[in-house]
Amino acid sequence: MTTSAIPVIDPALVPATLALPRHLLSTGDLTADTATLILDTAARIEQAIAGREVRKLPTLRGRTVVNLFYEDSTRTRISFELAAKRLSADVINFSAKGSSVSKGESLKDTALTLQAMGADAVVCRHQSSGAPHRLANWVDGHVINAGDGTHEHPTQALLDAYTLRRHLGEIAGRRIVIVGDVLHSRVARSNVLLLATLGAEVTLVAPPTLLPIGVGSWPCAVDYDLDHALPGADAVMMLRVQRERMGGAFFPTEREYSRRYGLDGRRRALLAPHGIVLHPGPMNRGMEIEPSVADGQGSVIVEQVGNGVTVRMAVLYLLLSGASEV
Ligand code: NCD
Repeated sequence: MTTSAIPVIDPALVPATLALPRHLLSTGDLTADTATLILDTAARIEQAIAGREVRKLPTLRGRTVVNLFYEDSTRTRISFELAAKRLSADVINFSAKGSSVSKGESLKDTALTLQAMGADAVVCRHQSSGAPHRLANWVDGHVINAGDGTHEHPTQALLDAYTLRRHLGEIAGRRIVIVGDVLHSRVARSNVLLLATLGAEVTLVAPPTLLPIGVGSWPCAVDYDLDHALPGADAVMMLRVQRERMGGAFFPTEREYSRRYGLDGRRRALLAPHGIVLHPGPMNRGMEIEPSVADGQGSVIVEQVGNGVTVRMAVLYLLLSGASEV
């Protein structure tokens, strides 16, 4: 590891075979090597700023990052903003509410406006699956998918992998159980793709009504019984029940859901002794996870948020300072 002023990976030294895709739209576009490059870069950034009074690197001075958020967000938007600012980029926060979008402006016209203003990166969250992919056709800057509909959320999966690696070491061969509303979860799909690429054994657990069509072709196992899937697992990742995306009834009652798919103290004890508990947030405490488990031993939920900033710094750094395909 280098001890120069900015002790992170020099993009010029990253071999072409390790170049990231131009845009970060899906974890399915990452190889084990490129995903590992992102995680290693995040680890170096963490080391570089640890214990510093000023936790800021000058790397992206003069570059502009636009946060284009069409859907509500707390963690992800703030995390990207902080990540870009810690790399000294200029950050513009655009939310659909209060912009010309509420006057009916299309995504394309908004994209052309950002293009004209010279955005180097556009971080996009949108309620429609595929919107960031469309955007990538219209802007010259790098597009980062910050969650599109029920499709993908690649930086969440990367921060989850980073958190897993910090606690479990090597991800390959680890048994990870992902539980809950897979049907509406972009976090689940991005995680399954990434964790499978990194060699983990992933099991999805959900009621049949909350699994998407075609889940059989995903690179993971599927189980309907949480008590069957949990024993000895290295990590469990709980998903939020996404009521805002539910038109109909997907389970009889909330109580019934919690009883069958909620993580309580008894179930948590089924994990391996070193097992950890993850949740992307926001949590429905008392529904998919008991407060005592969310706040208890082996819960890394708050740490995930902190790691999110570091991992997003790594992504912005690698995309904007050159270690990506042009
Ligand atoms: C997730 C999201 O928005 O997809 N949250 C997040 O980004 N931290 C998961 C969720 O909303 O349940």
